[in-house]
Amino acid sequence: PPLDHHARFAPPLEEAQLKALGMLPDEIQAFRKQRDMYINKDKILKDQIKIPNKSSLVDYNQLHVLSPIDPANAVRLLNKLVVVKLNGGLGTRMGCKGAKSSIEVAPGITFLDMAVAHIEQINQDYNVDVPLVLMNSFKTDQQTNKIIEKYKSHRVTVKTFVQSKFPKMYKDTLNVVPKASSSSEKDWYPPGSGDLFRSLQRSGLLDEFLAQGKEYIFISNVENLGSIIDVQVLNHMQMGKIEFGLEVTHRISTDVTGGILMSYQDRLHLLELSQVKHEKLKNFKDFKFWNTNNIWVNLKSVSELIKNDKLVLDWIVSYQNENHNTLVQLETPAGMGIQNFANSIAILVPRDRYRPIKSTSQLLISQSNLFQFDHGQMVMNPKRESGDVPLVKLGEEFASVAEYEKRFKSIPDLLELDHLTVSGDVHFGTNTTLKGTVIIVANHGERVDIPDGVTLENKILSGTLRI
Ligand code: UTP
Repeated sequence: PPLDHHARFAPPLEEAQLKALGMLPDEIQAFRKQRDMYINKDKILKDQIKIPNKSSLVDYNQLHVLSPIDPANAVRLLNKLVVVKLNGGLGTRMGCKGAKSSIEVAPGITFLDMAVAHIEQINQDYNVDVPLVLMNSFKTDQQTNKIIEKYKSHRVTVKTFVQSKFPKMYKDTLNVVPKASSSSEKDWYPPGSGDLFRSLQRSGLLDEFLAQGKEYIFISNVENLGSIIDVQVLNHMQMGKIEFGLEVTHRISTDVTGGILMSYQDRLHLLELSQVKHEKLKNFKDFKFWNTNNIWVNLKSVSELIKNDKLVLDWIVSYQNENHNTLVQLETPAGMGIQNFANSIAILVPRDRYRPIKSTSQLLISQSNLFQFDHGQMVMNPKRESGDVPLVKLGEEFASVAEYEKRFKSIPDLLELDHLTVSGDVHFGTNTTLKGTVIIVANHGERVDIPDGVTLENKILSGTLRI
């Protein structure tokens, strides 16, 4: 997005000004660097952008046809592993006010419960102690720390740290919004998942883990129910002395907000589609490797890059309008870290390692009887004959979790559903069943109620419902 003309000449921000806002020295350094890079950004050389060729990708399925890892080796590898869940995001798309990880993905099971159950199972099966680390933000920290009390008796060490807090800026001057005297929370934001590397270092946990002999972190979005520890991948990372491994999957038509893998000046890079102008999107339609945000990183490499101030992350720019001002915030996604590491790979994984719940449409699928949850793993119900996931599109009335919950008295039976589109003010009763293709449209100003116990099969309903 274009930089405002005036912003190009924005003076540097004084350290004292940022310090007075309560920012930590390390945060100040990172924030100023990001802002400088934004002001002085280099133009991307179009002819240097290429589709990564297949040889730069490791095929996950191929890794799995290799001989299985014997248990002793698996234990050795797991003892070097730390799992980090990204838990700082705001979940705006689902109207979250606090931690998205506290949403129930199935009755009585939250995202956090899933993460804990999965690692607990690994710890039990292999008699190891893989720690679970949650990166919280100032928006999610308090609530998360309360929630994790309940895992004290579980066989998993849960640690947390808080990521950086950056001030929003005015788009035209690039001056910061918060004033020293009255700094309201809405003037600040967590600067993206890429902030993890620095914040982990600042928290002291990175050094602590290195001192314990840990070598790798496996990072993933807390809302990705497919991000399961895979010892075969860990083994590959270690054998090949790989510093950064990014899991990508084949992009499908519904993958629209997220990142694609590209090769830029002969290194692997991540490009966020939100940064591409609408009319240019077609230029990227053949870029088919989609970021899952499952990331394997060598801890020592991260530590060295940070110490040498060589960890450079690109950013996503987003704007907000507030009181006649346009505000800007710069966020860095963790996957963009890939460009910094000499020995990096992308791993082409099957779709079941990428089950993100970013919208209530996806939440409906996970909460339904299409899936079962077994020790932190999401498993498709064997009764689902086709084995694939239906296409579900809930309209904007369902966008927030609160509205969604109001509109489903109970979650319908979706076992035989292929496609569901719901638009307008629709309310579902208890014990409904949806089969085949179902389209329900409530016209503007009308409300449609699906009665308790009804089965809809290959039906288009619009206007007032009569059954
Ligand atoms: P996303 O940007 O996809 O999710 O971040 P979000 O910010 O939670 O959701 P929306 O866009 O506002 O609806 C991907 C992952 O990175 C984490 C999120 O929690 C999510 O798991 N994240 C994001 C952080 O931990 N910190 C951040 O500053 C941003």
